Amino acid sequence: MPESNEGAPLVRDPQSKTHHIDACLTPAVEYAKTTGFEHFDFVNQALPDVRLDDIDLSTRLAGKPLRAPLMIAPMTGGVDRAHVLNLRLAAAAERHGLAMGVGSQRVALEDATRAALFQVRSVAPSIALFANFGVGQLAKGWGVDHARRAVAMIGADALFLHMNPVQEAAQGGDVDFRGLADHIRSLCAALARDGIPVFAREVGFGLSADATRVLVDCGVAGLDCAGAGGTSWAKVEGICARTERRRKMGMAFGEWGIPTAEAIRAVRSVSTSIPLIATGGLRSGLDLAKALALGADVGAMARPMLVAADAGDDALDAFVSDTLTELRIAMFGIGAGDLRALRGTPHIRAA
Ligand SMILES: Cc1cc2nc3c(=O)[nH]c(=O)nc-3n(C[C@H](O)[C@H](O)[C@H](O)COP(=O)(O)O)c2cc1C
Repeated sequence: MPESNEGAPLVRDPQSKTHHIDACLTPAVEYAKTTGFEHFDFVNQALPDVRLDDIDLSTRLAGKPLRAPLMIAPMTGGVDRAHVLNLRLAAAAERHGLAMGVGSQRVALEDATRAALFQVRSVAPSIALFANFGVGQLAKGWGVDHARRAVAMIGADALFLHMNPVQEAAQGGDVDFRGLADHIRSLCAALARDGIPVFAREVGFGLSADATRVLVDCGVAGLDCAGAGGTSWAKVEGICARTERRRKMGMAFGEWGIPTAEAIRAVRSVSTSIPLIATGGLRSGLDLAKALALGADVGAMARPMLVAADAGDDALDAFVSDTLTELRIAMFGIGAGDLRALRGTPHIRAA
């Protein structure tokens, strides 16, 4: 059906960033479907040979040290309200030693006056910071130059290329995904020469084993399998739609996606060594512990961080601290003294 018969075409105006934030502050954007973490239980170890305070959460991502295996997932930027939230999130990432990504920088790559509204290095000089734009842009002629500009714009350590075909189709966005593997391959090679790792990520519909195989073959430096069970981007687009027909289209795909626990295992069935971030429905330190035990190197959260940041610095600090305390207690409860022990733990089983 031609675009004109489907409702209003997508208008990528910066205001849509504000609509997305408002929508994502409500629970209506969440999947009814779960992450699948509830299908796994840790097996309690009554005599862990570990001291809780000695548990080591440190790791590395994109060449930078992290004090904990937690990332603030890419969300936003490019408008004043988004910048305020990003600065708050970045400052918390700096205080707690976490990684962070900014949201798609497309608006600022198309309109340089918006670049400053993505910058967070003034409050987060040392964090592992990821730039971001959508893979669909590569089919339209974007390439190494855009990627370098995105990285330089925010002083990033790495680049996220996000993939969201179903979201794009539901919102009437970019829908020509032909031949992208070749573009991804040359982009990865060029940025690798600059010392910038390229991570490919879903936005919440999950990576399959087949998609992982293609991406690994393209030479991506890492993946974020961002699965279903948390924020549904089809629902977000449905809620933010300007016409009833587009709203219905978003909602029809509201439950589309591979649950996060399944996506982690799909990636690991293809590569046991590729750096793997797991996003999508992580809502506690226990979810984070399960994501790591199932094979992720780092867990990431979007909506819970947004909600906490919207409530202020104290709420954000409390949320991050409680999440990391829960992770430590879970590790204590299975006798895992560090992340290597958690990732290789035999003490997790199907519930
Ligand atoms: C307000 C908001 C905006 C987002 N914008 C982007 C984006 O620009 N680029 C991207 O790669 N992911 C984006 N995401 C997706 C998240 O990074 C994440 O993959 C998804 O929300 C699932 O995680 P969650 O269940 O913890 O929210 C956004 C998420 C939120 C909540």
